[in-house]
This record gives sequence, C-alpha cells and structure tokens, in this order.
Amino acid sequence: MEDGRIPVWLDCDPGHDDAFAIILAAYHPAIRLLGISTVFGNASLEKTTRNAASVLTAIAAARSVPLYVGASQALYRPPFHAATDIHGETGLDGTSLLPEPRAEPVASVPAVDAAHDALMACPPGTAWVVATGAFTNAAALFLKYPHLVRHVRGLSLMGGALGGGFTPAVLGKVDGVPRVGNWTQWAEFNVLADPEAAAAIFGNRELARKTTLIPLDVSHMVLATEEARALLLLGKPPGGGEADGQKRPTKLRTMLVELLMFFAKTYSDVFGIAEGPPLHDPLAVAAVLAGLKDDAAHPDLQRYAVPFADQPLRSAIPTPPPENGSAAAVEAAASAGTAKPKTIGERFEVTVETVGTYEEARAGLTRTGQTVARLLPPGEEGVRIPRGLDIPRFWQVLEECVARADAAVAAAGGEDKIWGAEDDVGVAVAAAAEAGGFDGLPN
Ligand code: RIB
Ligand code: CA
Repeated sequence: MEDGRIPVWLDCDPGHDDAFAIILAAYHPAIRLLGISTVFGNASLEKTTRNAASVLTAIAAARSVPLYVGASQALYRPPFHAATDIHGETGLDGTSLLPEPRAEPVASVPAVDAAHDALMACPPGTAWVVATGAFTNAAALFLKYPHLVRHVRGLSLMGGALGGGFTPAVLGKVDGVPRVGNWTQWAEFNVLADPEAAAAIFGNRELARKTTLIPLDVSHMVLATEEARALLLLGKPPGGGEADGQKRPTKLRTMLVELLMFFAKTYSDVFGIAEGPPLHDPLAVAAVLAGLKDDAAHPDLQRYAVPFADQPLRSAIPTPPPENGSAAAVEAAASAGTAKPKTIGERFEVTVETVGTYEEARAGLTRTGQTVARLLPPGEEGVRIPRGLDIPRFWQVLEECVARADAAVAAAGGEDKIWGAEDDVGVAVAAAAEAGGFDGLPN
C-alpha cells in the first residue's frame, strides 16, 4: 500500500499506557496498523489479551485490527506475576466503561508467525515492530525469523532506564530513595520482565542499529497532567481553539481519562510523582514517525509527525584522518567547506544485566534488568535513544487520534453499538483475519 503510511506491528501488555499506544497506532493517519499481539507483564497474558480486545472494541477497531496472543512468560524464566499496585487487578483498573470485547483473538496462528507474515507482506525497509511490554515476543520474532532483521525498517521499544542525568526527567522516589528504575532501584519493568529478551535484541548488532529505545528517562518527560487530561476529555480543534464545551465528553474519552486518573493515583502513591503519570508506551509508537519529516512524497502527513530530539553530533573533528565515507569524514569534509555535514543523532551500545532472579532484584540483592547505554563515537551505528521530544505536539497528535476514534465509533453506529447491544458488523473481516487475508483498517 504505497499511500505513505508506515506499517506497524504492535506488541503490548495493556496496561493503561498501552491503551494509548493502541489508539495512536490504530488511528494515526501516517500509520497502518498491521496487527496487535499481547504479552504477559502488567497482568497475566489472559488479562492483557482481554484488555487489548476491550480497548479495540472501545475504539471501534475490534473487527478491523487482528489480535494475536503472544507469550505468557519470559523466554528463559518462570512465569512472572506483576504486582497489581500500578495497573490494578485487571491490568486496566480505574473505569467501569471498558466494553465487553466484541472480537476474539485469532487463536489459530501463533503471534510470532502472524507478525512475521504481516511484516513480510510489506515492502522491504518499510515496516516497524513496536513493543511496549516485555520484549519476549519481539525477541522471539527475530530469533525465529532472522531474515526479518534485514527486512524491517525498525524496532521501537519502550523500556529501560539510564539515570545519570540522561534527561532532566524526574524518575521518582520510593521510600525516599531516588530511583533509576521503576520496578527496582535499577531496572525498568519491561526489561526486568524478560532481561534475556532485551539482551538478545541489543546484542544483535544488525537489529540494534535499527532499534529506537524510549527509556523511563524520556517517558517521564511526558506526564499526563491535569491539562493533558482535560485536552483528552474535552478535545480541541487542531488549531488549538477553545475546547468545545457544548458537547458532553464521549464514553471513550471519559473512559480514557478515568484510566489516566487511576494511573495518576498509583504513580503519585508509589513514586511520589504528583503532576501526572508518565504516558510511556505511545511514545514508542510516535518514535516510528521520525521518517515522516523526510517523506517529501506525502507532505500532507508531515503535520502528524512528532519530532524527537537526538542530540546532534558534537562538532569535534577527529584528529586522525577519518576513513573515507564515514560520518566523521563527512563532517571533516564539511568543516573544509567541501560537503554538507550529515548531522545524525547520538547512537548507543546498550547492555542488560541478566544475572540474578526477579526475586533477588526486587529484594535489592542484584541489578538484574538494569540497562546501561554507552555513547558510541560519531558515525558508529547503534541504538537510537532520543533525549526528548516535542511534548505539546505529542499531546495534540494523540488527541487528534482520539477524535478519529470517536468518529469511528459514530460511524460504527454510535456508543450504544459499542457499549450496548450485540451487532454482527465486520464478521467477514474477522474471518479474513483468521484466514490471514486481513486488510481492513479502522482509518
Ligand atoms: O515501565 C513502564 C512499562 O511497563 C510500560 O510499558 C508499562 O505499560 C509497563 O508495561
Ligand atoms: Ca506496557
């Protein structure tokens, strides 16, 4: 489909912030959502899968976005039971408005195989995999199908935590002790849930150079403050005019803000972050939009980009003569005024601590799941880890996607159809998804 949209496979563990990643992936005008797979993490796999189906139902996409069930535990570790203090007992606590799922996950095809087939059906160098839960499915995908590493455009991950002033973000305190990680002193949840999966990804050089990582250091810059919640509840025209106070908020918007209020309370209670909860996962979806600004063929989509800041290369010109063709050579040539410098952002080597059990890490005995990023010399390829993004633009684009979801609900017969009586709309699409002939999309 050469309409300029970016094909995306989303793997997630809904999860309050995962719900917003689903909305952004399903309704961003420049994204073609190929499918969703679920993974254990914020709750059991059964619960994260049901939550994904409910969110897809709430945005009128349950029949048009195929849902597959992924891993119930880490690659090489015993089942992991997430505590319920962040996302609640169901994994998506805080609202009574989550609709009953209107479509079942496609049980006949394992998630990794479905993802492979959907990605291989895209032109080489165009599709992204986005993972916003444990990286188990993502690692299993590239381990089982190594040719996908060359085929995809990129892999975008939400996870990890760096500390050390990587960004100005506040990472929170637990019992008065400043944290780097959120699940332990050192480890972020998605990485700790499956450290070997993270290590397998970052240790694959060809995949690492195609990988963007959104760590807590970045996601904690994007807090769902009262202002952001008001924007999502009431909506605003893209021009930023006054919220349209005449209409009552839709059920979808009310549900989303109730979820954010719950998430806000847990982040305030557990981490002492009172302004609002960090909306981690949709940032990993937004990161795939980086290429939009260079897509001159589709200028209409560029306004939906969400710019991320990769620290530009420092202007130091290497003293030893740079080898031909390297970025250092380009920069050296630029300094001689003979070529325009190609400014690329920082790139990192990322390593993961895999020694220790989950229990030892939670007891503070090991740093299992800790991620360490080493800045690579200019021009050397590695993991992209942005230092920031255009945060107002992110909220505006997310709100526009919620507005598109509202429109889809209205087009599907209105709220009563979603939250009310049965309907048999889209059974053919679900059957097509089952047979792998899926191509229906909500946008
Ligand atoms: O540490 C934050 C991550 O863990 C987010 O993806 C959240 O949804 C949980 O999965
Ligand atoms: Ca998640």
